[in-house]
Amino acid sequence: MARGKFITFEGCDGCGKSTQLRLLSEYLTENGIPHIFTREPGGGKISEAIREILLSGKNMEMTDACEALLYAAARVQHLSDRVEPALQEGKLVICDRYVDSSMAYQAYGRGLGAEFIGQINGYALKHYTPDVTVFIDLTPEAAFLRKHGADENDRLEQAGMAFHKRVYEGYKTLAKESPERVVSIDGNQTPQEIFEAVVKTLKDRGCL
Ligand SMILES: Nc1ncnc2c1ncn2[C@@H]1O[C@H](COP(=O)(O)OP(=O)(O)O)[C@@H](O)[C@H]1O
Ligand SMILES: [Mg+2]
Repeated sequence: MARGKFITFEGCDGCGKSTQLRLLSEYLTENGIPHIFTREPGGGKISEAIREILLSGKNMEMTDACEALLYAAARVQHLSDRVEPALQEGKLVICDRYVDSSMAYQAYGRGLGAEFIGQINGYALKHYTPDVTVFIDLTPEAAFLRKHGADENDRLEQAGMAFHKRVYEGYKTLAKESPERVVSIDGNQTPQEIFEAVVKTLKDRGCL
C-alpha cells in the first residue's frame, strides 16, 4: 500500500486553523478519504506526560531551551505513536502545528535561533518532512481582533504583541525559504474561500 501523505497546518494563534480543519474533516469524511487528524503533543502516554510538564504552572522556572527540547521530544514520540502507523496504513495525516511552530515560536518568537531549533528537530525533519504545509497568513493584530472583537476597551498587551509579531515574521521567513513545501493562503478571506484554496492546494500537490 502506498504510504499516506503528511500535511501540516500552521499560522498564528487565531488565524483559522481549527476552522479549516473542521471543514476539511467534513470534506474528507464525505468523500470517503481515509485520514487522521492530530495535534502536538498528542495521543500516547509519553507525549501527554511531557505536555503536562510543559503546561504545569508549577514549572515556571523552565528555561526556553528546556521548553524547546521537551517539545522536540514529545514530537518524536508522537510521530512514532500516531503519525507513522497512519502513514503506513496509507492514510492522509493532518497535523495541527508541527516543526514550523517550534521555528516560529521558539526560534523567532523566543529568540533561540533557527540553528538550535533545527538541530534539536533534526530527527523529526529528516524522517518526517511534511508533503505540504498550509500556512494561513494572518497578522497577529487581525487574529487578535477576531478573537476579542474590535473592542476599543481591549488593551493590547504590548510585550505579548511584540512576541506574536516576531512569530508572524518567522512564519513569513519560513514560507519564503521553503516554497516547495509551504503554501501560503491569505487568511483575510471568508472561511469558505480559504477552504477552497486549501482543497485546491492539496489537489495540486497530489494529496487528494
Ligand atoms: N476566515 C475567517 N474569517 C473570520 N473569522 C474567522 C475565520 N476563520 C476563523 N475565524 C474565527 O476566528 C477565531 C479563531 O479561529 P480558529 O479556527 O480557532 O483559529 P486557530 O485554530 O488558528 O487558533 C474563531 O472565533 C473563528 O470562528
Ligand atoms: Mg486551533
